[in-house]
Amino acid sequence: MTLDLFGEEDLQQPARIERIGAQAYVLRGFALPWIEALLSAVEAVLQQSPFRHMQTPGGFTMSARLSSCGDLGWTSDGHGYRYSPVDPVSATPWPHMPEAFFNIAAGAANAAGFAGFVPDAGLINTYSPGAKMSLHQDKNERRYDAPIVSISLGLPAVFQFGGFQRSDPAQRISLFHGDVMVWGGVDRLRFHGVLPIKPGNHPELGEQRINITLRKAG
Ligand code: SIN
Ligand code: FE2
Repeated sequence: MTLDLFGEEDLQQPARIERIGAQAYVLRGFALPWIEALLSAVEAVLQQSPFRHMQTPGGFTMSARLSSCGDLGWTSDGHGYRYSPVDPVSATPWPHMPEAFFNIAAGAANAAGFAGFVPDAGLINTYSPGAKMSLHQDKNERRYDAPIVSISLGLPAVFQFGGFQRSDPAQRISLFHGDVMVWGGVDRLRFHGVLPIKPGNHPELGEQRINITLRKAG
């Protein structure tokens, strides 16, 4: 039996903004008020376009599994990284961008100083314990004037936020369920990645971390 001493609202972390670059921010707990809507939106996307492993152009298999939604979905195979209007598995358009993704992304971007953000690409990654994302730049988008908005759910992660060369030193930032990162402007092309996820069991998402990245790709 658990003692319910506090209502859920009382235990909610207050939103805090941490600045990690000239135009880069971690909005702690920003997504917490909308977690239920977010998770059912993730479910709906996955029903149509399930998580799948992707190959890198170099012939490796990415350890995170990916899905997408919106007008453009990010995909990778032996021929390269690109955005496609069609899910290569189903050969039909990606699921629509859920309203919850769109609203949180626009709200977070606005809070970070990027008014009018209209994402057209939503990438969903799931990381099992041990999975990681190597340092990379987001540069498959047509232009770089819109920010990147990144929502963390489930198990915590250590995010690496680096410089403009792969070898530049990287800040290590712990990201937790409900945290939202926004980086753009002069920080838009910074290298970033995720260290291997530590084993654990999240009360809502189990043994995984889910990341949703919203971008303007087209
Ligand atoms: C990515 O950069 O594509 C994912 C970052 C993350 O999982 O936090
Ligand atoms: Fe990225």
